[in-house]
Amino acid sequence: MNLFKRYTITSALPYANGPVHIGHLAGVYIPADIYARYLRLRKKDVLFIGGSDEHGVPITIRAKQEGVTPQDVVNKYHQLIKDSFQRFGISFDIYSRTSSETHYKTASEFFRKLYDEGKFIEKTTEQYYDELANQFLADRYITGVCPHCGNDKAYGDQCEKCGTTLNATDLINPKSTLSGNVPVLKATKHWYLPLDKYEPFLKEWILEQHKEWKPNVYGQCKSWLDSGLHARAVSRDLDWGIPVPIEGETGKVLYVWFDAPIGYISATRELTDQWELYWKDKESRLIHFIGKDNIVFHCIIFPAMLKAEGTYILPDNVPGNEFLNLEGDKISTSRNWAVWLHEYLDEFPGMEDVLRYVLTANMPETKDNDFTWKDFQTRNNSELVAILGNFVNRALVLTQKYFDSKVPVCSELNAYDSETINQIAPIKKLIEDNLEQFRFREALKELMNLSRLGNKYLADTEPWKIFKDQPERVGTILNISLQIAANLAVLMEPFLPFTSAKLKKMLLLNETDWDNTGNVNLLDSGHILGTAGLLFSKIEDPAVEQQLEKLRQSKIKNQEKESEKSIIAQKPNVSYDEFSKMDIRTGTIIAAEKVAKTKKLFQLTIDTGIDTRTVVSGIAEYFEPEKIIGQQVSILINLEPRELKGITSQGMILMATKPDGSLVFVSPAQKIENGGEIK
Ligand code: 2FM
Ligand code: ZN
Repeated sequence: MNLFKRYTITSALPYANGPVHIGHLAGVYIPADIYARYLRLRKKDVLFIGGSDEHGVPITIRAKQEGVTPQDVVNKYHQLIKDSFQRFGISFDIYSRTSSETHYKTASEFFRKLYDEGKFIEKTTEQYYDELANQFLADRYITGVCPHCGNDKAYGDQCEKCGTTLNATDLINPKSTLSGNVPVLKATKHWYLPLDKYEPFLKEWILEQHKEWKPNVYGQCKSWLDSGLHARAVSRDLDWGIPVPIEGETGKVLYVWFDAPIGYISATRELTDQWELYWKDKESRLIHFIGKDNIVFHCIIFPAMLKAEGTYILPDNVPGNEFLNLEGDKISTSRNWAVWLHEYLDEFPGMEDVLRYVLTANMPETKDNDFTWKDFQTRNNSELVAILGNFVNRALVLTQKYFDSKVPVCSELNAYDSETINQIAPIKKLIEDNLEQFRFREALKELMNLSRLGNKYLADTEPWKIFKDQPERVGTILNISLQIAANLAVLMEPFLPFTSAKLKKMLLLNETDWDNTGNVNLLDSGHILGTAGLLFSKIEDPAVEQQLEKLRQSKIKNQEKESEKSIIAQKPNVSYDEFSKMDIRTGTIIAAEKVAKTKKLFQLTIDTGIDTRTVVSGIAEYFEPEKIIGQQVSILINLEPRELKGITSQGMILMATKPDGSLVFVSPAQKIENGGEIK
């Protein structure tokens, strides 16, 4: 780790279209934060970069759903996400956003440089267009069947089930998410990055030079590279995003996955004038923390962009994690199946580190993993409270009791003392080795092994039983115990920063460097300790039950939503003039008979108040002809006459559809004169 002069650590920019949940934390922000904190403790020059991803179709969709502008959406969620991260102790050096001025400038310059140097291909292709909504359908505005796995909810840019990146034209049975309509193909011009040209370079760089990348990351890259790369569009026909910086090109913006990773650079630029050192100097180590759905963008597309630009360094590692599930189910924003960070912080005040601990212990490093509230409770009660908290509390309280809170002298060591002390440095080394290899779960296990070592040492030596006869021996035991506690206070900082601060305060341990730990010289004898307190407290069943109940409520709401889904989406707006052209009146059915050789059609005779006319209506499956005589109805009387089965139909009866598809008449709430205008 000493080869590099400085570290540029990025964490995936979350979309500002919803709050952050435990899946984001376990996948990206906790590992990135642990790593950044660790490097700072090792006195490395490190910048930890974060920010909100404020472009892309999901944001415009959310805005439409909420009836507000995309800017309103990103303002709201950017603030919420930023505050939650801060409260949770994610130690960004900067948390920026891709709507910032610096980002517009940086991303536009980047694009423009590649454009001017002829690095793009300009192509006019046929793309899906929604004729009802009058717009091209980029990415998530279109859904259909994934050609790889058959998932019928795949998006125009990606199938979330099998993880494949798609082009909208790959989808089988495409449908517009705006209108539900089948889209048509229409010509449009875009700029493409010819990834195929970078394939030989990427193969050599990843497959040969980065065999050390995590197997899940390396494997995904290999399968992409093995199946061959193609040119990818870096612009979109949308009105939300950074305008394509080419004169005369209106209505086109940069593809969100082109601008977002440049956001890391923009944020660094906002933070320091020295930003180029962190992005262009070969002695800087760039590391991207991401979730598995982001692998291709950070390992293939962004590096190809950086390579094309030519002046940037490439990521040295991309520790991508798999996904975290919740109580056995996929976390989902739309189904509200999540534990939201801002809610957790409100509902479990002062317990930030408990969540950090449980999510690190269950981090989906090599495979998807599950978060359950039961496990959360058990890990808190049986590990944090019973081992770490108990050990530290005993050491401090006994010192308070027997030595007036003064660190006692360490006298002669017996074999067990030495054996215990000799384990401290190797455990510390294991924590370091694991952290440097991005094995956060293992690193945390070692930290807990150090707590176990202390806990066992106190339990085995039982100083409370021997103080009367051997006060000096008790002094030695407590000195060793307090030294272990002091080691813990420093070594836990990357994982449990709030607890580390608390414990340092209890020990009145100032300014102890990571490099000075791993021994029993952290506290001088005679050093006065602060006041002992509890590091953790037990979580009782009702707290967990309340969270499970919340999830049950989400399930119920989802089931309700599913059944409401039969309600079809709103059609595009019509003008008042268009609507007022329709002449709808009250009328009464005066005769009804089935149309011969049809299943669905009735021939109705209607008194419209103006005249008596014939209407052919597709309602025969739901009514008996004799039972509807006398029924008052609403009738569109100026619909162009149509021939149906040889009968001229002069108008249309309005019907309402029930969820099961059956029909009921739309009639005035009270019986009124026929011919009354409906408007
Ligand atoms: O997947 C996501 O949530 C994206 N917003 C991540 C972007 S990472 C980076 F490129 F900005
Ligand atoms: Zn698929």
